[in-house]
Amino acid sequence: MRKLLLVALLAISSILCGCSERQQLKSSLRDALKVAAAQQKAKAEYMIPIEGKLPKSFKNGEIVTAKPQDWTSGFFPGVMWLLYEHSGDEQLKEYADLFTRRLEELKDYTGTHDLGFMVFCSYGNAYRLTGDPYYKSIIEQASKSLITRFNPTVGCIRSWNTGRKENPELDYMVIIDNMMNLEMLEWCGYHDIARTHADTTTKNHFREDNSTYHVVVYNELTGEIVKKRTAQGFSDDSAWARGQAWGLYGYTMMYRMTGEQRYLEQAVKIAEYILPHLPEDAIPNWDFDADVQMKDSSAGAIMASAFIELYGFTQNKEYLTMAERQLRSLASDAYLAPLGENGYFILKHGVGHLPANTEVDVPLSYGDYYFVEAAMRYLAL
Ligand code: GLY
Repeated sequence: MRKLLLVALLAISSILCGCSERQQLKSSLRDALKVAAAQQKAKAEYMIPIEGKLPKSFKNGEIVTAKPQDWTSGFFPGVMWLLYEHSGDEQLKEYADLFTRRLEELKDYTGTHDLGFMVFCSYGNAYRLTGDPYYKSIIEQASKSLITRFNPTVGCIRSWNTGRKENPELDYMVIIDNMMNLEMLEWCGYHDIARTHADTTTKNHFREDNSTYHVVVYNELTGEIVKKRTAQGFSDDSAWARGQAWGLYGYTMMYRMTGEQRYLEQAVKIAEYILPHLPEDAIPNWDFDADVQMKDSSAGAIMASAFIELYGFTQNKEYLTMAERQLRSLASDAYLAPLGENGYFILKHGVGHLPANTEVDVPLSYGDYYFVEAAMRYLAL
């Protein structure tokens, strides 16, 4: 009898502890989102006179800016839309709209696969939150531009253009990141293209252990695989952390958009690969197989957001617990920048492209976007 009572007491106290830890995390995420909103407003004020550009990172004491055609251009307006949704702050809405409109020319841009990131994070959130048909028309036109990059022989949307004219048999590159662009295509009704791309990726991008290659190079005339390799990772055979994050997020999103079980199964396989590879603070090294240690907070933020959504579909508590560990780290002093510092970016310690020695241990606009999304997803649980 005594033993039973003790077990019951222990169970109750662990439930209470769990609840109070969750409340603490929620409260620190609310605080972090307040800092995030203030940082974005300050950054918007800094960026207004720099016409035609969007903030991307912060290096040597200066905000690094990019043209609309840079793959990161949609994250700054996107994060302001998310923070407007969270706070109702009209100033954020005004800035979000201003910087979204800087991207209008992208509707006719056919030079990259990244239009999903660029247009759906900006115009997609804008339309979702306002219902203004102007935003919708840009999304629809951009999707038309994006599908010009689909090759039915390969079964994929081409990622990069390198070497296209010189080597049609050698250089049709598809990267795992490209899964993220399918949300906009599904939303616009291009189901066949989006699902064919996802299915080809499932077939060709993954190793036996469910880690993903970064790049698969196809022969665009026959659809045969020429090579599997890396671009931003440690080696062709290594698991670049952000690539694993894009895969996890991409397949979870495809399940949300389609209801097709095969995408949920693939997301779970990727999650099972990632979980045991994460370190004590749950923020991955930039590449799971690299000797060089350099945390990538952006990969941690993307994973956290995806794990929360995947938890919603599976009710697997391991995913929620991992997302909580990641959010706790990201919202701590180790990663969250104090107000007025870090070039007004939210997170420190991101890695853009370590092998090229560009953007190493810096803030990144996409890390900020997925951190805010993850925090909002967690607060909404
Ligand atoms: N899509 C490019 C990157 O993740 O760096």
